[in-house]
Amino acid sequence: MKKIKVGLIGFGTIGSGVVKALKTKRSFLRDRTGVDIVIDKICDKDISTKRPVKVSKKVLTKSIGKVLYDPDIDIVVELVGGVYPARDIILEALRQGKHVVTANKALLSEVGDDVFGLANRLGLLVGFEASVGGGIPIIKSLREGFIANKIELIYGIINGTSNFILSNMAEGGLSFDDALELAQKKGYAEHDPSLDIEGIDSAHKLSILALLGFGVHVKPKKIYTEGISDIEPVDIEYAREHGYAIKLLAIAKRSGTSLELRVHPTLIPVDHLLASVGGAYNAIFVRGDLVGDNLFYGRGAGPEPTSSAVVADIVDIAKVVQEDAKIENSIIFKKDVTGLKHMNDVRSRYYMRFSAVDKPGVLAKISGILGKYDISIATVTQKEKRSSQIAPIVMMTHEALERDMARALKEINALSVIKKKSVRVRVEG
Ligand code: HSE
Repeated sequence: MKKIKVGLIGFGTIGSGVVKALKTKRSFLRDRTGVDIVIDKICDKDISTKRPVKVSKKVLTKSIGKVLYDPDIDIVVELVGGVYPARDIILEALRQGKHVVTANKALLSEVGDDVFGLANRLGLLVGFEASVGGGIPIIKSLREGFIANKIELIYGIINGTSNFILSNMAEGGLSFDDALELAQKKGYAEHDPSLDIEGIDSAHKLSILALLGFGVHVKPKKIYTEGISDIEPVDIEYAREHGYAIKLLAIAKRSGTSLELRVHPTLIPVDHLLASVGGAYNAIFVRGDLVGDNLFYGRGAGPEPTSSAVVADIVDIAKVVQEDAKIENSIIFKKDVTGLKHMNDVRSRYYMRFSAVDKPGVLAKISGILGKYDISIATVTQKEKRSSQIAPIVMMTHEALERDMARALKEINALSVIKKKSVRVRVEG
């Protein structure tokens, strides 16, 4: 049996998890799949810090060249993260005739065209199952399992850190900061956690899901993105009173011939399947025209689930290498929407919380502005005063146009009776 040699670049939390999985499961994988995978080199700029897995010193190197230019290495696993220099590492690995496995969502969402284009031209494979949803096999499902479907909708809870924070605020009584600190300790959060809490990591992953589901590559900057940092515990409480949970959702929705892509905190009915997804778990809800509704649920962050996906990609590629199979156009994405819908043209229902002075005529002023912009109120509740001055007013609206809502909010926020920026959260489901 030919040994399939892997060179790993990036020996951090995820890298250590992958090495551990490949080492401990070598014979298990050999028996199940008929391929023998060995780690030939591990490259990192720090090779002295103790890792949770033991490796022979001979395998460790600080030199990327020792991986990229080693003719024995069949598969390069890039776990460096970030767009640069990871892009150059991957492109050079491909130029050297090596297949690539990566968990790098930032890179694929930004420069996936370069990577997939070169891989196609050279007849090489790029595995990226770990880039979205940790251990959940969503990439394979969209590429293979749902191949006969026109995808209508994808809703993703695809940032474990944000979900962990929101769940702990809702149920664990933790503050935002304490929940974030805990997520960092558990190894869920990005090196820069603002990528998690500002929705950017979700936008990276949504870009990849949209490419697979709808064949269009939209760079993260073009995706409307709002994070969870403005969500306050009272909003979670009021949402619950109205029968909703608040989740950071990544949404890809076919809308006529165009595509809606957006990431934002979202109210979803408490009886929606996604509402019960708690902690750092991820879930991806996919609607296809043949298959109907599907829910994928699992651990979306952390070294073990991520290494489950990375190893699955390595095994798939190792089988191709072992069989010396010919690869043609390994990664084809067929565009099946005309383009991206502008956020101003998106329609949604809304939850709103106004911090208003408690005196006659205030509600009339707010509802007058909403009416002017064709926004119809579904329910309205004035809450007990939270401070001596301010009484929260909570509204749910019927469906309205995003552009109208933005204009109405601007006018409402300029009223002298409004004491704090109003909160508005979109509603789905
Ligand atoms: N920071 C990411 C998350 C890690 O919290 O989901 C997995 O991509």
